[in-house]
Amino acid sequence: MEKNKIRFSKLGFIFAASGSAVGLGNIWKFPYIAGENGGGIFVLVYLLTIFFIGMSIFIAEVLMGRNTHSDAVSTYEILATKGKKIWKFAGFSLFIGLLILSFYSIVIGWILNYIVIALTNLPVNVKEAEIVFMDMLKIDYASQLFYFTIAMIIIVYTVTRGIKKGIERFNKILMPMLIIILSLMLFYSVSLDGFSKSLEFLFFPNIEKFHTSSIIVAVGHAFFTLSVGMAVIMTYASSVSREVNIVKTSIAIVLMDTIIAIVAGIIIFSILFTSGAEPGKGPGLVFITLPAIFYEMGVAGNVLAILFFISLAFAGLTSAISILEPMVMYLEKRWRVTRVKGTILTSIVLYVMGIFALLSNTTKFGKSLTFGSKNIFDWFDFLSASVMMPLGGIAVAVFVGYFMDKELIRKEILPIMGGFFYTIWMFSLRFIVPIAITLVMLNEIGILKI
Ligand code: PHE
Repeated sequence: MEKNKIRFSKLGFIFAASGSAVGLGNIWKFPYIAGENGGGIFVLVYLLTIFFIGMSIFIAEVLMGRNTHSDAVSTYEILATKGKKIWKFAGFSLFIGLLILSFYSIVIGWILNYIVIALTNLPVNVKEAEIVFMDMLKIDYASQLFYFTIAMIIIVYTVTRGIKKGIERFNKILMPMLIIILSLMLFYSVSLDGFSKSLEFLFFPNIEKFHTSSIIVAVGHAFFTLSVGMAVIMTYASSVSREVNIVKTSIAIVLMDTIIAIVAGIIIFSILFTSGAEPGKGPGLVFITLPAIFYEMGVAGNVLAILFFISLAFAGLTSAISILEPMVMYLEKRWRVTRVKGTILTSIVLYVMGIFALLSNTTKFGKSLTFGSKNIFDWFDFLSASVMMPLGGIAVAVFVGYFMDKELIRKEILPIMGGFFYTIWMFSLRFIVPIAITLVMLNEIGILKI
């Protein structure tokens, strides 16, 4: 009885884990980085990384979490066959969440602000849309702070309610709604003139726009979008019941995440190309270009705008709570802090970091909060997604590949995966993941030049 209260149901886990995976990464980030990196080839590298690297790690994280029913640090410690004291530190990858969540909830705040804009008055053209967005970003930090605070309150409240009553319930309501809204928008975009051009853009490689630096963006994004490499999936899986088929469930979630990113891409680029706009617009794509196009579309555009920003908010919030949970679980299990206290404590740190990130985008404080080439907001994004999550992913792969009890892994995975795929999976964890990611990283730092 007690367990049912603190563990996900089978379906609950699927909703929660896909709620984590499907987020701003799919709807806000994927389309604009695909746009900046030339579409087709980028999408190809992204898909390859998801299926050869991301999925292996995803399965490994679920396996780890489900076997200990504990926080990430304890999970590494309990499962390590040797070097327990050192492996424990890999569990601290859960703190990458501080970096991610502080910029992530700011973006959720922008989205809440845009729901209001969609309901009241959309900007009439791209020029005005740019003024509206830049004004929010660079000058009006009071209202940014206001919406950021609301986002934080929703996230914190849900996590304090716990696995079942908070996280599972929240996802079970929001995820189906998100899927319905996106399906409606997809149907609509098929009828637009820009539809075929959007397919061409996403699926036909344009070599000219692709640089080797696009590879690191694609690899980093594959981690980000699946929520792997920072103990989020591991932590969710630690609250899962034993009946869940690790492999089938993981594949379903990875597929769902990928399909939703592609669908979001198709929707956004169809709208974009119909109006003749350019794809490579950066982070402002959904906040500047789209709202202006929505306005041009008249009443249909108004409805679309509201639906679009609501779906973005849903996607973002379900991911945000998953980023907070590992830290709360860690405090609960290792430091014996109550859930409510743990959540509040973590969110105070997050809130302060968030304020710095938020101010680093403003004209007034931007200069003093910029270090080298990036301001704090961009550093948080870059360090977490492109550096730390891939490193966290290597840790998971090497751990399951070399440091976990072989027998236990075989017993759990072999019967449901079959010998052939088991061998590929193991090979991927032991060799492909560590080598591929190390090469990508060395290339990025400049030690190696592909
Ligand atoms: N996967 C989420 C997205 O695509 C972001 C996320 C990253 C969630 C890391 C959890 C952990 O938006």
